[in-house]
Amino acid sequence: MMKQTTLAVLLACAALVAQAETRDRPWFDKSKSADERARAAVAAMTLDEKLLLIVSYTGKEDIRKESDDIVPPSVKADVVAHEIKGSAGYVPGIARLGIPAQWQNDASIGVRVSGMERTALPSSLATAASFDPAVPEAGGRMIADEARASGFNTFLAGGANLAREPRNGRNFEYTGEDPLLAGRMTAGLVNGIQSRHMVSTMKHYAVNDQESQRTTVDVAISPAAMRQSDLLAFEILNELAKPGSVMCSYNLVNGRWACENEYLLNKTLKQDWKFKGYVMADWGAVHSTGDAANYGLDQFTGYPCCNHHGPFYSAKHFKKALADGDVAMRRLDDMAQRILWPLFQTGAFDDPPKTGKIDFVANAAVSQKAAEESLVLLKNEKNLLPLANVKSVAVIGGHADKGVLAGGGSSGVTPVGGNAVPDIEPKKWPGPVVYMPSSPLGALKAELPKAKVAYASGADIEAAVALAKQSEVAVVFVTQWLGEGFDGRLELEGNQDALVAAVARANPKTIVVVESGGAILMPWLDQVPAVLEAFYPGIRGAQAIARILTGKVNPSGHLPISFPASNAQLAHAEIPGFGKPDGIPVHITYHEGAAIGYKWYDVNGYKPLFAFGHGLSYTNFAVAEPKADVAKGALTVGAALRNTGKLAGKGVVQVYVAPADLKASGWEAPKRLVAFQKLDLQPGAGNTFTQAVDPRLLATYEVADNSWRVRAGTYRVLFGQAADDLPMSVDVTLPDMTWSAVHKD
Ligand code: BGC
Repeated sequence: MMKQTTLAVLLACAALVAQAETRDRPWFDKSKSADERARAAVAAMTLDEKLLLIVSYTGKEDIRKESDDIVPPSVKADVVAHEIKGSAGYVPGIARLGIPAQWQNDASIGVRVSGMERTALPSSLATAASFDPAVPEAGGRMIADEARASGFNTFLAGGANLAREPRNGRNFEYTGEDPLLAGRMTAGLVNGIQSRHMVSTMKHYAVNDQESQRTTVDVAISPAAMRQSDLLAFEILNELAKPGSVMCSYNLVNGRWACENEYLLNKTLKQDWKFKGYVMADWGAVHSTGDAANYGLDQFTGYPCCNHHGPFYSAKHFKKALADGDVAMRRLDDMAQRILWPLFQTGAFDDPPKTGKIDFVANAAVSQKAAEESLVLLKNEKNLLPLANVKSVAVIGGHADKGVLAGGGSSGVTPVGGNAVPDIEPKKWPGPVVYMPSSPLGALKAELPKAKVAYASGADIEAAVALAKQSEVAVVFVTQWLGEGFDGRLELEGNQDALVAAVARANPKTIVVVESGGAILMPWLDQVPAVLEAFYPGIRGAQAIARILTGKVNPSGHLPISFPASNAQLAHAEIPGFGKPDGIPVHITYHEGAAIGYKWYDVNGYKPLFAFGHGLSYTNFAVAEPKADVAKGALTVGAALRNTGKLAGKGVVQVYVAPADLKASGWEAPKRLVAFQKLDLQPGAGNTFTQAVDPRLLATYEVADNSWRVRAGTYRVLFGQAADDLPMSVDVTLPDMTWSAVHKD
């Protein structure tokens, strides 16, 4: 009894202390909204404290060299003491007010800190191929847990640029060519991360669709085309996941730097989309103080790295801009408010990161599951796959004896177990070229314990051919390494095409496994019966590949990008500035507008090598009962999917809309993806789904009055399992509709 009374008194005292604390420091009051808490915190700040929030620093060694009037000694000491070495950025906290520091780390597939081994998911392009937002969401939770256990509270994740340019070196960091798919899949990742009390970005905003000359390229594109393509992906992502931050990109858009672009930042993001978080600059992408602040940049991130153009948001520079009247104090307050808001909104403020042990075994299983949901079976003639009762297998090429490839640059994770092939050039930025220590040879041996599984590197084509001849089947691994800061080619490098062709001649049962950052050409496609697209499949990629090849897992990925049949099908023959040293001012006009990917193929009547949405299974699916209803102008679609084969598997229903009169509709292309649903089905079973169609996917953006408009008419709703496999349709009549592009609060 006595004990209970003491406890009650103690609890009451604690409550009183907490009350007093939240009275004096209302931003600690969890019953208040994130807006209120951020506002209260900013109101309590001195000018110098507000100015602390608007710069993130990187590189302890470089900070020391900065002059004291640019980085005051107290800030230098803080950065040196608290920055996590090798991480992307650090914003000092404000101890007097209990405002935490911001520890910012890359990127979308896992924690990147050089030398720190962490779990890598498959590339974002790979997980987009799952066509199931729950897959990146589970991955997001896992990498956020690792990030928090590593001391971080801000993730520079959420890459959502459209694969407008199939050779873009960073397509593997993004989620494909379609705005609905990219928006939903990236939102899955961001939701997963932020559910673990971390702030996530979405990036790189916007139309940062080539890496060649990325810091100097000026992109010309009409607002309507932008709003219907690249910006629509970000708009959908922002609505579905509310990322706390947006990273503006290096490039110029219509003559203005993306990080001081009134149209992109103030008008579209902040006014129209009502974005409440903060805009951070890509590292080195700031070009001014007044223009950047006034046109929407909130935080100058990554100082002093990455060929920055000046310390524009240093206290010294910013105070001058305030004193000269170039920037208003209320704008600085807004910047501080925006930077704090997501810390409260996501729970990062109330639940700070704690360094601790990581369960790498459990996390590798999350990554493997993501790969198993995502790899795409492109071709499987005469059901060569899955391999059953096979006695001997020749594994050839792609360092398949050691590991699976990953992409280069700031998203590159140092994998648990280290780089399996450490000797490949470039070893420096955007390298090192990393192979995850997940050996396809080893994984195939494990899955086929009775078979003889042998390896040839492929460097010597004759040796590979000899091995293929002695073996019942040959599995050739081909690779395409892409990374940040450069664009690639669709052609495979080195002798790889010749290797596949020679092996295929020697052994008609040749399977090609592609580890690529994006689309590739396949001049040997007609000669091989089976192709599996594995993208960059992550830390357990080999296990996923082996389990799919041997039928332990039924493949269910579908392409998030079209694979061109030739370079002649590309919208741009050349990428301006390709292969030249950085820093050359170049221009590109996106004359294709919003007609990206499959839309571009449709406009031009091209037949791609593999269509957007394509992906085979070891079972068969049939789409049935297509439905499309219009009520008060709102379109709802639905269908049934049946597993008509003999194995359990996951199928993806894809729904597109095609206007009967393309010209009258104002659309950029004959059809658009409007819905997709993955369904897990036992043999003989079926299931149904219904989805409301986002009306923007039926509309054009009208720049004159900042609205979306659907033109009255007949629209055909198409149902199937790929952009080139849409056997069923229902016609609907849509009324004329116009609504404001400004979001409701
Ligand atoms: C990349 C960003 C990255 C940043 C910080 C830049 O080079 O473009 O994606 O988040 O560096 O590492």
